[in-house]
Amino acid sequence: MHVIGGTASTALAERISRELGNAPFGIPFSKRFSDGELYLRVGGRLEGDDVVIVQSTRTDQDLLELLLLEDAVREAGARRTFVVVPYFGYARQDRRFFPGEPVSARALCRHVELDADAVITVDLHSAQTLGHFRKPAFEASGIPALGRLLRERPVDILISPDKGGVDRVRRMAQLLDRPWFALDKRRIDSEHVELALPASGGLPVDGKHVVLIDDVITTGGTIVEAARLLKKKGAGAVSAACTHGLFLRDAFERIKAVTDEIYSTDTLGNPAEKASVAPDIAQILAREYSS
Ligand code: R5P
Repeated sequence: MHVIGGTASTALAERISRELGNAPFGIPFSKRFSDGELYLRVGGRLEGDDVVIVQSTRTDQDLLELLLLEDAVREAGARRTFVVVPYFGYARQDRRFFPGEPVSARALCRHVELDADAVITVDLHSAQTLGHFRKPAFEASGIPALGRLLRERPVDILISPDKGGVDRVRRMAQLLDRPWFALDKRRIDSEHVELALPASGGLPVDGKHVVLIDDVITTGGTIVEAARLLKKKGAGAVSAACTHGLFLRDAFERIKAVTDEIYSTDTLGNPAEKASVAPDIAQILAREYSS
């Protein structure tokens, strides 16, 4: 198996190649034409071999690079192409909210899988997105990676900032054998949220080290409000852990100012990238496609 890392996921791709027993790893040559269009070329002898392409699609440019990479790998005569999209962009528009809108997640699934034999991604925004793929598609979770890290840290209580994250926080709680609860979240607009303890009151956080578990940190509004609330309720330390750390604009600094530690996986490059999903992705590849 060869592993090719796109520009959005070079480091993770290299980690996946190591997890696959030091599979040959390469990065494509790329440059921009004077009109701005992307040129790329993959190296190595790929003919008749299985190839893993790793590329998160955070930006439209990342997506375009992925589509070109898939075509290049097919042209190079790969036997099978496995496309790993650690952070799958456009997944939030997973249904038509208003007439005239696309189901963006579905549109992306159909294009990304076009030249792929299978697609692997990590913590999609909603489970139904996996159903939009017509080819085999697998979803790894960021929870085992964050769990391997948090096992080494002081953790008393795990908290989801909203009810939508209950399954995720419960899974982490089982892994670490710690109690958990979920806050009540009301979204005011895309950047502002209101958070409150659940009607049951949750668990006493006084003097405790609590860890917020979320799938994605975008503007940071959710984590900042949650950390403020928990500190006001007497938490001794508040940390935040997420699978996908987008940290738009000054989100990282704003969260840093109100938390004790920030953890993210390596689905996207960011300053909190401390846990790797490489073993979990390699495990899926080895389990499903070792022959
Ligand atoms: C919500 O459904 C998600 O789990 C995250 O809590 C949310 O997307 C985070 O966004 P932000 O960082 O902008 O508050």
